[in-house]
Amino acid sequence: MQNMRVFDTHAHYDSGAFNADRLEVLASMPEQGVELILNPGCELESSRTAVSLAERFPYVYAAVGFHPSDCGEFSDASVEELRQLAAHPKVKAIGEIGLDYYWKENPPHEFQQAVFHRQLDLAEELGLPVIVHDREAHQDCLQIVRQHPNVTGVYHCYSGSLEDAKTLVKLGWMLSFTGVVTYKNARKSLEVIEWLPMDRIMIETDSPYLTPEPFRGKRNDSGKVHLVAETIARVKGLSPEEVAQITLENGKRFFNIQEDMK
Ligand code: NI
Repeated sequence: MQNMRVFDTHAHYDSGAFNADRLEVLASMPEQGVELILNPGCELESSRTAVSLAERFPYVYAAVGFHPSDCGEFSDASVEELRQLAAHPKVKAIGEIGLDYYWKENPPHEFQQAVFHRQLDLAEELGLPVIVHDREAHQDCLQIVRQHPNVTGVYHCYSGSLEDAKTLVKLGWMLSFTGVVTYKNARKSLEVIEWLPMDRIMIETDSPYLTPEPFRGKRNDSGKVHLVAETIARVKGLSPEEVAQITLENGKRFFNIQEDMK
């Protein structure tokens, strides 16, 4: 596993779960075979932290945006703040954005939808891809995405149907997968992966959450993303190294990361 070079395309190192050892954990990633990490933001403060971590580590990149669960304070001023943050050369996407109907205490659905639209418009204006979070909102999420045909993106931690996956691939989108694919109830995700063309797949940890088996229950970090590659490799009949390499290239292409920027 140490000769695998992987791109963890979604990890939250701004999370409080890393307060005790954030810099040490990130510094240890190259020796664990992690070549690149993308840290998305969930509101302004975490977006700022994502950018500052990207400034500190050559292999860390950032996305900025308001997560649907954290978008209650979103306003016109937020759009301007995101626009300014996104001017940083290591900001490679708007995210994570989307809809989350799972948590009852989240902002109202209509408000989440309006914030999602505004951030998709911003992505189009800036020529950046988006990172989408869709939890229990598949129909509305896809409908909104379709209304922004000039924006492309990735559905992170894809949990939708095979039919929706086919639609998203037609629209030019990517799907990314977490440690959830290693869980016992992953059958639906594995069916999607079985069908999905390899050039549309990215891998991620969603650290500190969604820790893959056999470490489920512990804090997640990018060093465990190879377990996601191993599961995808089994489904696709490829070696884990091949999946790591292809998803690394996919991520670099999708986020427009050039080697010489490191
Ligand atoms: Ni996330």
